Amino acid sequence: MTGPAVAGGHSIGEYLISARSFEEYRAMFALGDEDLAGSVLDCPGGASSFTASARRRGTRAVAVDPVYLTSADQLAERVSAELERGHAWATANAERYLWDFFGGLPGHQRSRAASAALFAGDRKANPGRYLPAALPHLPFAERSFDLVLSSHLLLTYADRLDAGFHLAAVREMARVSRTGVRLYPLVDQAGRPHPELVERLIGSLTADGLRVRVRDVDYEFQRGARTMLEVLR
Ligand SMILES: C[S@@+](CC[C@H](N)C(=O)[O-])C[C@H]1O[C@@H](n2cnc3c(N)ncnc32)[C@H](O)[C@@H]1O
Repeated sequence: MTGPAVAGGHSIGEYLISARSFEEYRAMFALGDEDLAGSVLDCPGGASSFTASARRRGTRAVAVDPVYLTSADQLAERVSAELERGHAWATANAERYLWDFFGGLPGHQRSRAASAALFAGDRKANPGRYLPAALPHLPFAERSFDLVLSSHLLLTYADRLDAGFHLAAVREMARVSRTGVRLYPLVDQAGRPHPELVERLIGSLTADGLRVRVRDVDYEFQRGARTMLEVLR
């Protein structure tokens, strides 16, 4: 079920199934060729084309998301409605974004539609790359992937996911990674930072023996979202 976007509000409604591109992932996670040389888990994948594009260039990429319980055709249909919902939200809240990466709202809409189409085709052709799973539990053994990327779930939905969920989710992603986890953005859907939540995460993960740092990235779409959280094992 999808709720309506609230113009100028702080909540987009239900989790949006968004469709970011490989290029956005590369920029928001500061991914270099060495990061893409091994295996990468996209968690959650949504309708992003990261996995499809990464596979084309040789990365052993896998995506997980609870929406992959939905059949490929049904999800593709749902994603078309989600593209509209995302566009309505971006239009109503345009002043909260920097449009340079896309060259404006129409460019953003085109990019998301192209990414969703690439995702839909790849999921149909290669269903084994898209596995249903929901944080904070992942159906993988320890150190199954070199790197885990997590875009626009944690922090983005800090209005409904509490600190305990955030910590359990990052610990789980760290568990299945060999080198670590990258998390972006560190602001919520309305662009608000959550420094206390980030500090709490850093404190608990550091106490677990992980190395954690906030890293600048060369990407800013939501205004002020210029950093990611990097967790190193
Ligand atoms: C805003 S989308 C992000 C998708 C993709 N990473 C991107 O940036 O385009 C958020 C996704 O989180 C998924 N999601 C919701 N609850 C989740 C959970 N507990 N574990 C993993 N994914 C979840 C939703 O189904 C949705 O596809």
